[in-house]
Amino acid sequence: MWVSRISSLGAQAIKKLTQGSPGQAAYTPRSSYFHACACRGVQSSLRPLQMQQYLCTAAATDSGKGEDKGKKTINVTFVETDGSEKHVEVPVGTNILEAAHSNDIELEGACEGSCACSTCHVIVMDMEYYNRLPDPSDEENDMLDLAFGLTETSRLGCQVEATPDIDGIRLALPVATRNFAVDGYKPKPH
Ligand code: FES
Repeated sequence: MWVSRISSLGAQAIKKLTQGSPGQAAYTPRSSYFHACACRGVQSSLRPLQMQQYLCTAAATDSGKGEDKGKKTINVTFVETDGSEKHVEVPVGTNILEAAHSNDIELEGACEGSCACSTCHVIVMDMEYYNRLPDPSDEENDMLDLAFGLTETSRLGCQVEATPDIDGIRLALPVATRNFAVDGYKPKPH
């Protein structure tokens, strides 16, 4: 529990630091974060191609800044573990887990969105978009602590709602998830 508090506080502090500079490159590697991860024995879940994209999108264009608050759908890009991208339109109000399942994207969601697992872990590829999201709840942070390959922009898909503010968001799927099944069982979306 204390680890999640530290993660939460760290993320909020970094969020504040980055929010004051809208034109600035959105992502600066946070060595302290990765240090914390290393202490916990957590490796980055991004493959090299994804990591390259992760860093490159730091200078993402300003498209999709969410000015159009009346939008009914938003554009979301899922970056799969092989680096391929899937662009989907997501109705506002839908959560990211539901959006993935509606578009045949393999995001597990073992607890069906009740914030009791970490198998819907997604990685926001652009810090600017990460900063636009509401802060994760304590419950989400607790579950994120269990996620494989946790990063500083990790979120649980079932806890992130599509809003006009995140139109254009890019989300990477981690190379693995950690669930309670030990026999290789993978829950299927409902
Ligand atoms: Fe279990 Fe999101 S589906 S926490």
